[in-house]
Amino acid sequence: MRTRRVVGNWKMNGALAGNAALLGDCASAFPYVSGSAAPGVEVAVCVPFPYLAQARDLLSGSAVRWGAQDVSIHTSGAYTGEVSAAMIADFGASFVIVGHSERRAHHCESSALVAAKAAAALSAGLTPIICLGETLEERETDMTEVVVGGQLSVCIEVLGHEHLAQCVIAYEPVWAIGTGHNATPDQVQSVHAFLRARLGPAGASVSLLYGGSVKASNAAELFAMPDVDGGLIGGASLKMADFEPICRAFG
Ligand code: PGA
Repeated sequence: MRTRRVVGNWKMNGALAGNAALLGDCASAFPYVSGSAAPGVEVAVCVPFPYLAQARDLLSGSAVRWGAQDVSIHTSGAYTGEVSAAMIADFGASFVIVGHSERRAHHCESSALVAAKAAAALSAGLTPIICLGETLEERETDMTEVVVGGQLSVCIEVLGHEHLAQCVIAYEPVWAIGTGHNATPDQVQSVHAFLRARLGPAGASVSLLYGGSVKASNAAELFAMPDVDGGLIGGASLKMADFEPICRAFG
């Protein structure tokens, strides 16, 4: 059984005052209803580390979950500036994004490091949201499946199918992130079907999210694709008027 999810990725945005309004609106839009996720969809927001406590305080008691955007591979000790999975879990978080293309590009994160981060998250009881995706040049040279297949293979080798079954995977073509150019539903479905097949037995339970310029106006057609289980939403997760309709865009 695959869970339908919409996860906001705030990236390096926010401030205490504005967050309070956004988180409060999220909590009221998706209240906790005993025995079921309110809209049949799991909604979450991944906030910058300093705001984890604020997310916990304002979302506890609602149906909305929260998480972080990166995690250390280390558990504790002399790693200045790093944040461990246990620390994130300490704030009641459910998720951590790993391997976002912005981290792969700006922080030279390899697929092996991303897989190790996913393993660290799992061992602290967090669900990693593992991001994969090709650049425009790779798509234009027909390398999409080679690239995303390679990124996924490293996760399969490091985590094994059993642990991978507990992860969420987000396909985020680099050329569609923050550009306003989303992949077409057919392009997304084709990569998701490829990834699902590669996941083997884990494919039956893993949520495959699409990310890259998802908006209220295109979410429904993307989420209607058979192998798309929801979205990882950047810019449009920063305003409730944009985020809420995306969370409700499942047919
Ligand atoms: P975007 O970002 O929705 O602003 O394109 C998505 C992401 O980077 O996760």
